[in-house]
Amino acid sequence: MEESEVFTLLGETGFARLVAAFYRQIPQDDILGPMYPAEDLEGAEQRLRNFLIFRFGGPARYIEQRGHPRLRQRHFRFPINQAARDRWILLMNRAIEASEFPEEAAHCLTRFFAETATFLINQSDAAAHPGASAQALRWH
Ligand code: HEM
Repeated sequence: MEESEVFTLLGETGFARLVAAFYRQIPQDDILGPMYPAEDLEGAEQRLRNFLIFRFGGPARYIEQRGHPRLRQRHFRFPINQAARDRWILLMNRAIEASEFPEEAAHCLTRFFAETATFLINQSDAAAHPGASAQALRWH
């Protein structure tokens, strides 16, 4: 299925369910919890929801409110290493499963999240790559 068709299938309520199931797990998560704004989790939930709705073929509220996504730039201030990326994906995959979407939509979302999360890694794991500097990795 085309990414632009996912919204037609899931609608506003589908994306709301997904993002709520994701954010429910955030406060108690030892890696991700501290990165998210405890006082504005609802705002964070709304930003991700609107972004996904736009990205998968729905209304462009995200662009109207936040402008061009520039996701990599907007994530620079968070320390995203492989472990953080993998945890984000773990929580999102659980949320997808809990949302009980049709298989082809779930597949589309899973692939998109895996690729985008890898693209957002901005820190090396010092132990895994002793010689690599964050600066060297930033531009590849
Ligand atoms: C790889 C692990 C990731 C981490 C640790 C992470 C962390 C964060 C944090 C802490 C925020 C700030 C919350 C807020 O106040 O809006 C944020 C925002 C956001 N993230 Fe991520 N994120 C990750 C992956 C992703 C992925 C894969 C996507 C793609 C769907 C994504 C999309 C967004 C969006 C759209 C925002 C709001 C940007 C804005 O308008 O300011 N993130 N992320």
